[in-house]
Amino acid sequence: MYRTHTCGELRLDNQGSVVTLAGWVQRVRNLGGMTFVDLRDRYGITQLVFDEKTEKAVADKAGQLGREYVIQATGTVRERSSKNKNIATGEIELEVSALNILNAADTPPFTIEDESDGGDELRMKYRYLDLRRAPVRDTLILRAKMAHVTRSYLNSQNFIETETPVLIKSTPEGARDFVVPSRMNPGEFYALPQSPQQLKQLLMVAGFDRYYQIVKCFRDEDLRADRQPEFTQIDCEMSFVEQEDVLNMFEGLTKYMFKEIKGIEITDFPRMPYSEAMEFYGSDKPDIRFEMKIKDLTALAKGKDFSVFNDAEYIGGICATGCAEYTRKQLDALTEWVKRPQIGAKGMVNVKVAADGSIKSSVDKFYTPEDLQKWVDVLGAKPGDLILILSGPKEKMQKALGELRLEMANQLGLRDKNVFQPLWVVDFPLLEWDEETARFYAMHHPFTAPKPEDIPLLETNPGAVRANAYDLVINGVEIGGGSVRIFDKALQAKMFGLLGFSPEQAEYQFGFLMNAFKFGAPPHAGIAFGFDRLTSMFAGLDSIRDTIAFPKNNSGRDVMMDSPSTIADAQLEELSLIVNVKEKK
Ligand code: AMO
Repeated sequence: MYRTHTCGELRLDNQGSVVTLAGWVQRVRNLGGMTFVDLRDRYGITQLVFDEKTEKAVADKAGQLGREYVIQATGTVRERSSKNKNIATGEIELEVSALNILNAADTPPFTIEDESDGGDELRMKYRYLDLRRAPVRDTLILRAKMAHVTRSYLNSQNFIETETPVLIKSTPEGARDFVVPSRMNPGEFYALPQSPQQLKQLLMVAGFDRYYQIVKCFRDEDLRADRQPEFTQIDCEMSFVEQEDVLNMFEGLTKYMFKEIKGIEITDFPRMPYSEAMEFYGSDKPDIRFEMKIKDLTALAKGKDFSVFNDAEYIGGICATGCAEYTRKQLDALTEWVKRPQIGAKGMVNVKVAADGSIKSSVDKFYTPEDLQKWVDVLGAKPGDLILILSGPKEKMQKALGELRLEMANQLGLRDKNVFQPLWVVDFPLLEWDEETARFYAMHHPFTAPKPEDIPLLETNPGAVRANAYDLVINGVEIGGGSVRIFDKALQAKMFGLLGFSPEQAEYQFGFLMNAFKFGAPPHAGIAFGFDRLTSMFAGLDSIRDTIAFPKNNSGRDVMMDSPSTIADAQLEELSLIVNVKEKK
């Protein structure tokens, strides 16, 4: 037996017991006659002590210890004279009587403590060492617990956990596919699933009724803090349901997870149409932990002598509570911020409501106090508040105001990580027009059903058709998305037509699904949650990277394995990716 207890287990109650621990040496402190060693394992840290009473052979061995040595120590548990309130075992220490070095270790490239001195790249290269650090490990333990809770909820609701293949055919979810060459079928490729979308729909045709899978998905897209090329979904599909049934079921899952994992009761779960989200929050994933709604000032602000506003399609503003005292410097910095290419505003107008109620603006030349009072009324600004106004193309400025709203909320500390406010965004447009390629794209995916009342518009004004599609948004993060599916072959064919697929292309890419629909497809709908994103939110992290044991960096590289990497010519030839190595040479 390597150990009798773990390093996180011993308490004052164990005083006097002889125990054996095993783990890694986190730190050695040599104080003349006494040596203290912090011994770490997954469960915690226990202090080992070697003093003048320690047998010489044991003390000598203790003298050889270095950071990250793997050791086994036997000794007597005793009360510490100076207690450490920060750790669970902080009231005791182990007076070591026998020490066994199980494995020596090279000096690690960074300190393996809660706060490490290692930079990002270095910690990624030695990810297995980074994973020894408690904060990183705890996130992965949280992740495991969340997967467990998810399974227990969905199992209790009669969902069947089903694995779907990883080597499949290209799926059109809007990103690029990762592809895998087939040795046995020269010149042909599998694609890794961007999601198991079509497969789960086929499981509905198969009569499974309720499916789920905690599943890896692969998307070759540009990476950001909330995106990895391989990520995990809680993927679900249900038959004989309407949108409302899916929303209720997954509202249930979300509430259950918050309750079980974080001990938080979520009661409020509003629903907001996409059009409202864009108008008042400038985003399809509004953070509704705070108000600061965008208000339209177009009609009020036009028609005076201010040509910037007169020429603008849209004028909108937000009210930052208590910011009337912002200095010229702060306002200039905000103006620069909105002028960055990512935000794209040309400039910014401000209106300050002083503590005495008097109004002062950067456009006083063009507007009377009465004019400005109307803006103040629309925005509900109170004495002490600051109004920020942008003007320009409507959609672009709504988005810019949405970003500015988040920035102001950050500055005002309104985005508390311990407050959770979910909502459903519903009634998304079915299609999105792309100027560059001059064609429609499915906003969610091509299997999403239009709202029945909007179907006639498919002929006349496809851009106005709303979908039975929904997103779960929490604190401004898109956690999940799904839709009611088309289950009628003719409507699906029409949809492919609108998306610019010829019947032959549609047959080539989706023939198997269309064919299956001939054999009795039930009405069905589903959703997928981004499991990494949900975990990162529960863990209070800003990036999903540390929710993944072995993540990729921002260039999509695994710097630990040094992948992707080149492969041998022989392997390329075997895969028919090059011809005849010998001739080539
Ligand atoms: P969607 O594409 O909206 O829907 O994906 C569902 C959720 O997956 C998460 N997500 C990601 N997380 C990390 N890295 C990525 N690169 C990444 N891409 C997406 C998001 C997102 O909300 N098949 C449909 C679902 C359905 O209709 O049932 C789908 O995949 O949190």
